Amino acid sequence: MTGPTHLDATGSAPVSTGALPVPPDGTEAVPTVLGPADQVPIGEGRAFAVGGEQIAVFHLRDGTFRARSAVCTHRGGPIADGTIDQRVVMCPLHQNVFELDTGCSTTGAPPLKSYTVHVNGVQNIVLQFT
Ligand code: FES
Repeated sequence: MTGPTHLDATGSAPVSTGALPVPPDGTEAVPTVLGPADQVPIGEGRAFAVGGEQIAVFHLRDGTFRARSAVCTHRGGPIADGTIDQRVVMCPLHQNVFELDTGCSTTGAPPLKSYTVHVNGVQNIVLQFT
């Protein structure tokens, strides 16, 4: 089954939101449309399942987005439900803190995996999934 399609940042090429294409060498980033940007309110995060991984997308107060692993490296807590400010997210389970720009922890936990994310010309969130 194929999911709905959306236009890319140029507004011209369709991008599938269904099954992920598999990169030939397994390392190339694949743009994946996650849907409308307004589904993630400013100052909050939402979790998305992409390619078998859980990814937390955060909408910062300056309007930018960040994407990190949604599974806390400490004991698997739900990072997307954490409290954020402009710089960090705090896991709701044991309050480890992670930098939103790097995924690195300021409290000694292993880093969260980082992904590149942006909003395209038709206001959809686009994740570069590797
Ligand atoms: S599970 Fe996130 S801080 Fe413990």
